[in-house]
Amino acid sequence: MVKRTIVTMPGDGIGKNVLEEAIRVLDAAGFEADYIEADIGWEFWCKEGNPLPQRTLDLIAEHKIALFGAITSKPKDAAAAELDPELKDKGLVYFSPIVGLRQHFGLDICMRPCHSYTGNPLNFIRRGPNNTVREPEVDVIIFRQNTEGLYGGVEWSNPSDKVYDALMTHPKFVKNFSKTPKEELSVSTRIFTKKATERILRAALEHAKKYGYKSVTVCEKPNVIRETSGMMYKMAQEIQKKDYPEIELWNTNIDAQMMWLTKNPENYGVIVAGNMFGDIVSDGFAGLIGGLGFACSAQFNPDTGVGVFEPTHGSAPKYADYLVSIVNPIAMIESACMMLDFIDENDIAAKIRKAVAEVIAEGKVRTYDMMKMTGRADVVDKGAASMKQMTDAIIEKMK
Ligand code: NAI
Ligand code: MG
Repeated sequence: MVKRTIVTMPGDGIGKNVLEEAIRVLDAAGFEADYIEADIGWEFWCKEGNPLPQRTLDLIAEHKIALFGAITSKPKDAAAAELDPELKDKGLVYFSPIVGLRQHFGLDICMRPCHSYTGNPLNFIRRGPNNTVREPEVDVIIFRQNTEGLYGGVEWSNPSDKVYDALMTHPKFVKNFSKTPKEELSVSTRIFTKKATERILRAALEHAKKYGYKSVTVCEKPNVIRETSGMMYKMAQEIQKKDYPEIELWNTNIDAQMMWLTKNPENYGVIVAGNMFGDIVSDGFAGLIGGLGFACSAQFNPDTGVGVFEPTHGSAPKYADYLVSIVNPIAMIESACMMLDFIDENDIAAKIRKAVAEVIAEGKVRTYDMMKMTGRADVVDKGAASMKQMTDAIIEKMK
């Protein structure tokens, strides 16, 4: 095995805790790597006025593969208030380093698998006839377009005359909004490009083909959002017909999909969506398999091979300073497995996933979230496993 260099970005709060655990598991599984720590997050916003320093971008550009914990972000005013006094009045504006990373490296493909582990007490269950209880197996993977759409950042409040004039060329704007004073308007655009739309659709279809999923569902709202959602669905139909005839193409509306989430989650396989709806639907499915302690993700640019792997949870500041961390490291460990898949270390990934599955199935070691406890420092005294105990159990299973 070639020794890899992995950039690690612990970030803030529990991001620092869980990333350390993922590395312990990678080491124990026999993955050989040098880890180079890179700066990201709130601390660097406060100290330097930049939550995503150039030196971090340089490290990722050089080594391509990064593991990321989580960051803290705060609203505009709070961000300005916490800035180092020497940096105040320099016109610095806080931006999300996560969105920054995605845009800088064009990490336009985001994968969020939601797969239920047997024995996880947080798995979704459904009542059947005669008081039977069923636990449908959820095995869904969401492909989320990660750089455009509603998160593209093209937005205005009190738009300039130029922008306003352009909006006034649209008959619906004239009809519905032209009586509203300009100062009372906020506009966020939802821009889809054909290129990025095709890339996410093909990534989803290719994944379905490679891993034997029978369907790909486009989860948008083409009947109402005709231009962007409409374009995505139309392109999906064309690409599927031409290159993936063996895969069924389904079309759901995001609102209905969220309703159906609990009705028949086992029916879905690969789901593909734009940025915002992909974010929503992936959180929805994550809720069925245990929530934030289990939700992992990969984001990458297939052209350059740059990939960033991270749990979807945030920095959970209220748990950050616990002497014994109580959070569930599995989402981060699973994200590390996605990294291993990405760099073709599939055997090591499989070994780790098997150990995680065994620990969950056995049910002896469960973090507070799995015990359905309220997160507090005393959960360990009450029988929950600490973060480190969970990691230790996973490592033990690999021996
Ligand atoms: P959060 O994901 O940090 O925490 C929400 C709640 O989920 C926690 O209070 C905890 O009860 C639970 N939780 C999260 N991770 C867990 C884990 N590994 N094990 C067990 N329970 C877990 O979201 P919140 O509280 O909305 O945001 C906190 C900070 O994180 C904010 O500054 C926010 O902007 C940031 N954030 C960062 C993200 C990222 O770095 N990707 C994503 C989401 C939020
Ligand atoms: Mg989210």
